[in-house]
Order: sequence, then structure tokens, then C-alpha cells
Amino acid sequence: MQRDTQIFDLIQLELERQQHGIELIASENFVSPQVMEAMGSVLTNKYAEGLPGKRYYGGCEVVDQVEQLAIDRLKQLFGCAWANVQPHSGAQANAAVMLGVLKPGDKILGFDLSHGGHLTHGSAVNFSGKLYTPSFYGVSKETGLIDWENVADIARKEQPKLIICGASSYSRDWNYVRLREIADEVGALLLADISHPSGLIAKGFLNNPIPHCHIVTSTTHKTLRGPRGGVIMMGSDFPNPWGLTTPKGEIKMMSAILDGAVFPGTQGGPLEHVIAAKAVAFGEALTPEFADYCKQVMSNAQALAAAMVSKGYSVISGGTENHMMLIDLRTKSDTLTGKIAEDTLVKCHITINKNAVPFETRSPFVTSGIRLGTPAITTRGLKAEHMPLVAELIDTALTHHQDPTVLDQVKTRVMELMKGFPLYA
Ligand SMILES: Cc1ncc(COP(=O)(O)O)c(C=O)c1O
Repeated sequence: MQRDTQIFDLIQLELERQQHGIELIASENFVSPQVMEAMGSVLTNKYAEGLPGKRYYGGCEVVDQVEQLAIDRLKQLFGCAWANVQPHSGAQANAAVMLGVLKPGDKILGFDLSHGGHLTHGSAVNFSGKLYTPSFYGVSKETGLIDWENVADIARKEQPKLIICGASSYSRDWNYVRLREIADEVGALLLADISHPSGLIAKGFLNNPIPHCHIVTSTTHKTLRGPRGGVIMMGSDFPNPWGLTTPKGEIKMMSAILDGAVFPGTQGGPLEHVIAAKAVAFGEALTPEFADYCKQVMSNAQALAAAMVSKGYSVISGGTENHMMLIDLRTKSDTLTGKIAEDTLVKCHITINKNAVPFETRSPFVTSGIRLGTPAITTRGLKAEHMPLVAELIDTALTHHQDPTVLDQVKTRVMELMKGFPLYA
């Protein structure tokens, strides 16, 4: 480490930042030392293009076992028939699915980015909006909820080839049964991107898309608490609906099409060190302790939402059923923007992200909202009883965002609080 003090000093600084702070970014978490150990292992040296047992390189007999373990554990965790653990990220997983099931220009229907969807669900600045023809559904202005019949109306009008459900900032559960009916009615495939709530789904705390959606993608680093990465799953394999055949003339199964869409379609060699870390995280997620963790994540989110409401903030859709919430700052103040809130809270070692709210009037660089999530602070050990204090610290900082003395006091209180919840001690 002393050979490159520049980078290792920075790693030390980042460790200290993580230790000091209240981490409320909904998409972040703290992995176990075992997950990090696997990621930092000799497996990083190995090229292994292909799949276990079918590689384009020699010397893969060990990484074959690593990758097969990751696949088997993921299948057990979600009760799915098929999985690919190679996507380097959530965006890569979605890119592979779209390459596999769509032709350039095909119509897709996704949840509007500005209402809580993800860039890879059809945004104009992303490959998904550039290569395909997107349309969107959103939330109702009155309730902040997705109206499934509105989704059905848009699907009937647009006739998409692929319907995408799942979100980056939607605090409610999804009606996969109704979405599958809609997809069947218009002849679309249904993709659920469960990147955010996948841990909670795996442990049975939210509706399960696996039996209803043709394909499911996820990141592995949010509520699933693994290394940064992605996965693709199918509850059951099925023959491709386009009549594509193998060189032997047999109908190709979707699993083969999706495997091919990952490699060679969108990626080169798999990151076997990250796949090993995924296997470690899936092993952790299979334990009963992980169910306790997920339950705590959800009760912490509900307690934080209630505490924020009691301080005069408005939670979009009125509450949360998962690990996160979207807060509309406009009910608190006309001048407090998401950007001011993010910048202010960072000064106090409270990390959040500014977020557009549905029907946003400000630019994406400013926004009127913030997104708060509890996966990371729950890993630190905070419980529902600590959430009123967290809300009070946030509120004090935001109310006095122009007063450096108050911000300093909040920072000291944050550091004091987090000293009681050691991280990588
Ligand atoms: C719903 C959803 N899908 C995909 C992604 C992309 O994941 P990654 O950042 O690993 O590419 C995210 C990340 O925030 C997400 O929230």
C-alpha cells in the first residue's frame, strides 16, 4: 500500500467518510468484509469468457465452480429456474435483456424517469431511449401512486414489445399480476427491474415478480448488500417467441438468448472476483439473519418517513412500503431545493441525494425533492427508535442551512451518534 500512497490515502479517507456519516442514499449499502475479501482476490486475474463448463479460455476449472455456486445460490434465493450472474452492473443487465428481446426501433414502455423510473427504462439520454422507441407511464398527481389501469391504457395505445416495471425512487409495491395481464393482452414481454428492493423481495417482504414476469433483472449492491454488479433471472425458461433456431434447427430457449446477449452480446470476460463476491453475498442473503435485516430496513424506513412527516415534510404517496421514500421539500419551504438540501446535509456528514419529484418544476440539477433510504444505516445497526433523531438532525440542518455554526453542531452530533455504530472497526 505504501507503493502508492496517493490512492491508498484516498481509500483511507473514504473509509473515514463512510464511518463518520449517516448514509441515507437509498441505493447504497455496506458489504461484509467477506464480500470485499472475495472482490479483492486473485480471481481478478482470470479470463473466463463463456459460461461454466463452456469457456473460451483454459484454466477455468476453479472459476467454473465459483460462478456455478453464484448461479445456484441466486436460484435458491429467488426460487428461479435460470440465472446469469455476469452483468457488470444493473445497466448492463438491462442492456443485455433489451439486446436479447428487441430489435432497434422496437417500442418499449417504462416508468417515467421523472416519476421514479431508471435511465435504462427508455430515457432519451440512455441507450434504451436512443436505440428503442420509448413511451412512459407515471404516477397519479393526486395520490403519487401508479394507476395500473392507466398503464393498461397506455400499453393498448402504444403496443410495446417490452413493458418494464421497477424503479429507482418509488416507495410502493408493484402489482406484477396485473402487469402480466396487460403484457399478455398487448403481446409484450414483461421485464421487472428489481434493482432497489431485491433483498426485500428475496426474503418475501414484497410481492414477488419471479412467477409473473418473463424476465427479472437486479443490481446486487443495494438492498441485496453484495458487490456492485447485476444479474438476470427467469422464473421459468421458455422457447423464444420469434422462432429463432439453433444451428441444429431446434427452437432456441430464452435462457440461451439471454446468455448470448450478455456474452458476446454486450460484455467480454466476466469479472470472476465480483462473481465470487456475489456468491458470498447470496450466501449471506440465504441466512435467517438477512430476513431480520430486511425487516429492520423496512421498519426503519417507515419510522423515518413518519418522523419526517412530523417535522412538516411531505412524503410522496404518503408513506413507504419498502426501503426508501421520496420527500417533496416544497411543503416545507418555497426556496429549499433538493440541491441546497444535498449540499447542506453533506456538510453535516449526512449523505442523501437530490431527486426530482413527480411533475417536477425545477431542473434535474436543482430539483424539489430528496430521496432517503435505510439499507445502509440499518447495516450500521440503527433501529426504528433512532429515526426521530435522524429526522431531527436533517431538519435542523435544512432549517438553518445558511448558518455554519448550526451545521457544525449537527456534524458533531452526527459523528457522535455514528461512533456508537462501528463500521469495519
Ligand atoms: C432500477 C434501477 N435499475 C438499474 C440501475 C443501474 O444499476 P448500475 O448503477 O449498477 O448500472 C439502477 C441504479 O441505480 C436502478 O435504480
